[in-house]
Amino acid sequence: MFKKAYEGGFAIGAFNINNMEIVQGITEAAAELNSPVILQASAGARKYAKGPYLRHLVEAALEVNDIPIALHLDHGPDFETCKACIDDGFTSVMFDGSKYEFKENIKRTQEVVAYAHEHGVVVEAELGKLAGIEDDVKVAAHEAAYTQPEEVEEFVRETGVDSLAIAIGTSHGAFKFKPEQCTRNADGVLVPPELRFDILAEIEKKIPEFPIVLHGASSVIPKYVKIINENGGKLDDAVGIPEDQLRKAAKSAVCKINIDSDLRLAMTAGIRQHFFAHPEHFDPRQYCADGRTYIKELVEHKIKEVLGSQNSA
Ligand code: G3H
Ligand code: 13P
Ligand code: NA
Ligand code: ZN
Repeated sequence: MFKKAYEGGFAIGAFNINNMEIVQGITEAAAELNSPVILQASAGARKYAKGPYLRHLVEAALEVNDIPIALHLDHGPDFETCKACIDDGFTSVMFDGSKYEFKENIKRTQEVVAYAHEHGVVVEAELGKLAGIEDDVKVAAHEAAYTQPEEVEEFVRETGVDSLAIAIGTSHGAFKFKPEQCTRNADGVLVPPELRFDILAEIEKKIPEFPIVLHGASSVIPKYVKIINENGGKLDDAVGIPEDQLRKAAKSAVCKINIDSDLRLAMTAGIRQHFFAHPEHFDPRQYCADGRTYIKELVEHKIKEVLGSQNSA
């Protein structure tokens, strides 16, 4: 997948999955656009849905749709979690050692890479710290550390990883920047500071042709935030990464773009809108279907307008 993405100047969407409707919405969109897709499960997703359910949901999606689908562990916190997923049939795992200092991150990543490669599974690692919330590790904005380009060559060589997540100004969640960090455009919409494309360019020079991963890459699409707020929700000053910056990243060595918050917003928008329009409904199939419809619409939009992965399956 990454070789094609690198050479084709696009990125593969890595979408977080937690239940059936999310898996269906994402994979129906990808199949209609003939796009490969990565479905990723966090430790929290495995706790919520349980490993076998996630695995079988993805197997069902593969049976129904004729496109390449990878099942990836998102933010594996330790060797044991990575091993459990490798043993469980995941095709790829992330070991997130970004909270450790450089040498310790290398050592722990090496252990995961050794086990994964023995089992034909590829590994993503992370260097640098994203601001915001990474699972239960909260990184205050002022502690956020951009990836240091001088470190990437040694890290990649020593660990043998297959892809590298970097920190260039993205962060997790739907509130990526404080309003005071942003300017407002003519419509009053918050515009955040630019990602550090200069750091990305330095990294690309140090490790040519190596697949880079962007976490925290939701755009927090105003349409879904508006629907949520108009239907009883309250999400003030939600702000994400502008789409033009993600399009630019997708054309670079960035081969994998992680999206979770946008899915959460789309699903919530569909369900809230449904309940407001139909207060008499109580059949989960009715409101979950609307959540799923918005997930599908969102993923189609991402593939066509941001990632550029259509017709590459
Ligand atoms: O990067 C984190 C993902 O958005 C997963 O979030 O740990 O709440 O499932 P979660
Ligand atoms: P968002 O919160 O921007 O969707 O990021 C998701 C992510 O990085 C999952 O690993
Ligand atoms: Na790319
Ligand atoms: Zn992430």
